[in-house]
Amino acid sequence: MNTAQWTPALSLDFDPLDRMNHELMERLAQAQRASDADLSQAWGELVAHVATHFGQEDTWMRETGHRQSDAHSLEHRVVLNLLREGVGQLRQGQLAQVRQMSRELAAWFSRHTHAFDEALALHLRGHQLN
Ligand SMILES: [Fe+2]
Repeated sequence: MNTAQWTPALSLDFDPLDRMNHELMERLAQAQRASDADLSQAWGELVAHVATHFGQEDTWMRETGHRQSDAHSLEHRVVLNLLREGVGQLRQGQLAQVRQMSRELAAWFSRHTHAFDEALALHLRGHQLN
């Protein structure tokens, strides 16, 4: 079942974050659509994107002194670690667990966007990003 889909409700009206969030949902949807044979590659690409994406947000928070950065970055670390565990699960043939994780990630992502990325977008609008 594919639960990852970009919707206008996820838009932050701030291009640098919206572009990354849109790509995350695309890659997640690709992983959800992947056949068993293709799941490892799609999952690996998703994890690589998420690591870069979260790393960029963490850098912007640090460089601009965003006051919610500790809690926001902690969520990034926890979720990225779980996704990386999925790589190991796939190596052991635990595809169903990873497919379940992909559905949970879609739900988590929506919550994270509203709980953290929204405030970050508001904060970053007043800064010059590198
Ligand atoms: Fe975030």
